[in-house]
Amino acid sequence: MNARFAVALLALALTACAGSASRNGALYDPRALPAGPLGQSIAYGYALIAQTHRLMKPYVRADLQCADCHLAAGTQPRGGSFIGTYGRFPQWNKRAHRVIALQDRIAECFLYSMNGRAPAYNGKAMIAIVAYIAWLSRNTPVGAKQPQWDRYVEPLPNAPPNPRRGAGIFVARCARCHGVDGQGIPQVYPPLWGARSFNDGAGMAHLDRMTGFVRYNMPQDAPGSLSLAAAYDVASFVLRHARPHFRKNALVVTRPLPAKYF
Ligand code: HEC
Ligand code: HEC
Repeated sequence: MNARFAVALLALALTACAGSASRNGALYDPRALPAGPLGQSIAYGYALIAQTHRLMKPYVRADLQCADCHLAAGTQPRGGSFIGTYGRFPQWNKRAHRVIALQDRIAECFLYSMNGRAPAYNGKAMIAIVAYIAWLSRNTPVGAKQPQWDRYVEPLPNAPPNPRRGAGIFVARCARCHGVDGQGIPQVYPPLWGARSFNDGAGMAHLDRMTGFVRYNMPQDAPGSLSLAAAYDVASFVLRHARPHFRKNALVVTRPLPAKYF
């Protein structure tokens, strides 16, 4: 078990104790999975979220796991939780200017956040990820909006951010894990910029999203200890650094299916 996976398991155990993520009883618990192939698919989906880089190499260029931004494998309130996500799709997507399926939204995170390629919508991996998100969402009514207490994106201060002050906060509060060079430690602490990070099309590359994520979830061992202003300044410092540029040549990988698939 690598250190980051251990951290994820610990986080799961801690949230289970605190009871916070289980407020609607939807926390991932392998013992509660349905028996048989569906349960196996859900468990596989969980593994893909927690260890994306190792298990989905051909689709992932960033040195990231889905769980680096969807904390505790998508069960952490205000941590990119997937609880309820299943019932919010299909949904209207402003960027694509069409109604998208959950698979399209997952594909977006592969293309931008993982700086990679999206797996086939009918392949084992995509179906497992959908099965896992559906399982986490099983107690949330279809069509229910994400509750305010679960969101981390909030209005930003009116004044522009101060990246110089952000640099000081970074050294004092972030560099211990993510490194002074922002590169982290491969497979232990994720990189925040550079070639191994998410690309410039990713949600996390937006100042409002990174500010909210950092405010509620970082530093990882003292979440909630930064003010909105401090999170805003440090996020603006992080986002000043170079990262991969999204190119539209990144493809959704689909293979023709034999008739016997059906
Ligand atoms: C670099 C950070 C990052 C990584 C890595 C990442 N995501 Fe995301 N993801 C985001 C952000 C940011 C959002 C949008 C959150 C918001 O706007 O509230 C998001 C949204 C989503 C949503 C929509 C959730 C909802 O309820 O609307 C899904 C589904 C999703 N991601 C799946 C994945 C999967 C699967 C992976 C791994 C293949 C992944 N993400 C990796 C940052 C990331
Ligand atoms: C104690 C170690 C630690 C500290 C300190 C820390 N982080 Fe993190 N950070 C992590 C880990 C580990 C993850 C992956 C998610 C998880 O497992 O909780 C992460 C994830 C992230 C992510 C999303 C993934 C990515 O690579 O983009 C961002 C953004 C981030 N941290 C920013 C910060 C900022 C800004 C600070 C300082 C205010 C900070 N972190 C302090 C350990 C830390």
